[in-house]
Amino acid sequence: MEKKNLHPSRISKMYCSNCNKQYDYHVAQTFATCCSKPLLISYNLDTPFPVSRLGNSPQSIWRYFELLPVLNEANIVSLNEGMTPVFPLEKLGAAQEFEDLYLKDETNNPTGSFKARGLSVAISKAKELGIQKCIIPTAGNAGGALAAYCAKANIEATVIMPAHTPQVFKDECLLYGAEVILIQGLISDCGKKAQEMNKEGEYFDMSTLKEPYRLEGKKTMGYEIAEQFYWELPDVIIYPAGGGTGLIGIWKAFKEMKEMGWIKGPFPKMIAVQSAKCAPIREAIKDSIHWKENFTPEATIANGLAVPYPFGMDLMLDVLKASHGETVQISDEEIMKGVLEFTRKEGILISPEGAATYMAFQKLLQSGTITKGQKVLLLNTGTGYKYLENMIR
Ligand SMILES: Cc1ncc(COP(=O)(O)O)c(C=O)c1O
Repeated sequence: MEKKNLHPSRISKMYCSNCNKQYDYHVAQTFATCCSKPLLISYNLDTPFPVSRLGNSPQSIWRYFELLPVLNEANIVSLNEGMTPVFPLEKLGAAQEFEDLYLKDETNNPTGSFKARGLSVAISKAKELGIQKCIIPTAGNAGGALAAYCAKANIEATVIMPAHTPQVFKDECLLYGAEVILIQGLISDCGKKAQEMNKEGEYFDMSTLKEPYRLEGKKTMGYEIAEQFYWELPDVIIYPAGGGTGLIGIWKAFKEMKEMGWIKGPFPKMIAVQSAKCAPIREAIKDSIHWKENFTPEATIANGLAVPYPFGMDLMLDVLKASHGETVQISDEEIMKGVLEFTRKEGILISPEGAATYMAFQKLLQSGTITKGQKVLLLNTGTGYKYLENMIR
């Protein structure tokens, strides 16, 4: 990324998402220790930030530097992430007799997924805060992204992933110089291992929403969506939700843009797509108190959707409620059908998570939640090439 004299970050506070208690944003923070909930960051949006300023900004997530938590631009660790394309899915839309179906394709990001956005911001912040060792439980893509950004920043990376994750996810981490630990189980088991290894506080724990910086990187998708749709948001956005940072981040961006006067309402209906084999949002909606008791999550070919106990569940539910959205579950068989429709009609080898959004679109069209004439955006959060092992199997 070329260096610009960027306008300073407008960060104004960091606070507990449950009780609003403030935390010092000048020091390394994890989650809100007061309530054991995610920390959120807010910005001073009162002074004007004209949209025209973006015209002269980097072609990466760092074009939104003012709205990100890094204080000194010299600390930016970038591999040119973001500014991924949005384009119409003409053939898939036509197959459903639907005109305005779009894809935001995150494939072009470094390491092949949208995880690059969050990890670019989090590792930049880690550099700024003098952190030397990071640890991450991952379903695959976040581990690769952490390893790559840590390599660039000279930070040590430890990646913990389920043993059943396709080999390429493990190999890329090793190639970037990370330590890789494999666990029998799901990402929640990897999270337990990370906590165990970090008893002495040796590492900075990059678990989803257990630190406040990755969310800020992910929110740049929301800014880009608005920019790419010329500040008129689509009617429906369909997101494949694991830990939920994309869902929560996109919504956060919309709220910030509204405050700055960049966009007006109404906001899109947000859809959280999950795997039928691991659908904690559905469980939490059914029974918000006891949902974990009889929940039996399983692995799926969409590795990123196998997140049984998302730390940011409350924030995801808030977004679904505020946007009049809903959650949809997709089976592995349906996901494979979606992958094949994408490859054969659009020439795109989409990730299983991305394919799930297309299958959810079909279901919502059939149920009448989506109607003709609406503008619908699907998110392909990663490349399908890393999942060939799952798909061929
Ligand atoms: C390709 C892909 N899509 C979606 C997700 C879910 O992302 P999040 O946990 O931020 O909801 C992941 C997570 O690993 C992923 O790798």
